[in-house]
Amino acid sequence: MAKPSKQPAPPVPQTAFSLDSSQDLGHPDNVIEVSGLRTQFGSKVIHDALAFSARRGEVMGLVGGSGAGKSVLLRTMIGLLRPRRGKITLLGQEMRGVERAGALLDNIGVLFQDGALFSSLSVLENIEVPLKAHRQLSPSLRREVANVKLSLAGLPADAGKKLPSEISGGMRKRAGLARALALDPDLLFLDEPTAGLDPISASAFDELILDLQQALGLTVVLVTHDLDTLVTACDRVSVLVEKRVKVGTLSQLRQDPHPWLQKYFNGPRGRAAQQAATTVTMAKTPTAADQQGHDNQHNGKDD
Ligand SMILES: Nc1ncnc2c1ncn2[C@@H]1O[C@H](COP(=O)(O)OP(=O)(O)O)[C@@H](O)[C@H]1O
Ligand SMILES: [Mg+2]
Repeated sequence: MAKPSKQPAPPVPQTAFSLDSSQDLGHPDNVIEVSGLRTQFGSKVIHDALAFSARRGEVMGLVGGSGAGKSVLLRTMIGLLRPRRGKITLLGQEMRGVERAGALLDNIGVLFQDGALFSSLSVLENIEVPLKAHRQLSPSLRREVANVKLSLAGLPADAGKKLPSEISGGMRKRAGLARALALDPDLLFLDEPTAGLDPISASAFDELILDLQQALGLTVVLVTHDLDTLVTACDRVSVLVEKRVKVGTLSQLRQDPHPWLQKYFNGPRGRAAQQAATTVTMAKTPTAADQQGHDNQHNGKDD
């Protein structure tokens, strides 16, 4: 009798869905549009013919291997780095040169990867930095606004007087977020905000981002390595691979045959995050009728 041979792995289903994100350009809800982007340092090309977009009110995740160019993309979008080629439009205005970027920065909040609070300033003074630069407010009104942002970011009032070194890592991230929200931005860029946080602080931070996004109608671009964050917080996800972006919902990206995406989304960590989200959704389901009526495989953010 012939020895039973190992069954080959089933082929990854090919969908009609195209992962070329340039197809999304021109969507009427887009508040961020990047097309034909090329960035390079010396001869090293980081992005090439890259297209990226995000729609008003969505949380767009941005993932990719270390060094893939996520932070460079973010810095280029907000005008801190000049691209070799390409067009960047934020809130309907094309970014051209630093002057335009300066005016647009009024409408943009950024939490950089390293947090970068001024270590010699108190938390409240840190939050006041963009207010001093961009708003003409009396010192007392400025302090009042800073206090509002402090509490918006979920920090207790007494944290405001402390130096960054006197508060926990999670609180420092919140302080950075409060500073990013100082100018009431429409767009919020967050570069790995939960990196280095313990899982409980990280998931509390994810919830905070979601709450704020919903309460303030923000459009958020969220660079992250955290698969749980992608599952809980993001409407769609952009993946930086081969100098370009592939975009989709998590379900769509899980079906993409690209080897990096397969490894990332369907590897052990990707499956664990998916499993955890499913479990949480089922645990949260309030009634038996709901249980019968709904497909609990999905958490509502991931269609
Ligand atoms: N100012 C710079 N000068 C030269 N190379 C840079 C600079 N900033 C980033 N790079 C390079 O660009 C690539 C992408 O970096 P980055 O966007 O920080 O990656 P990540 O996806 O991990 O955020 C890396 O190879 C990095 O070394
Ligand atoms: Mg980075």
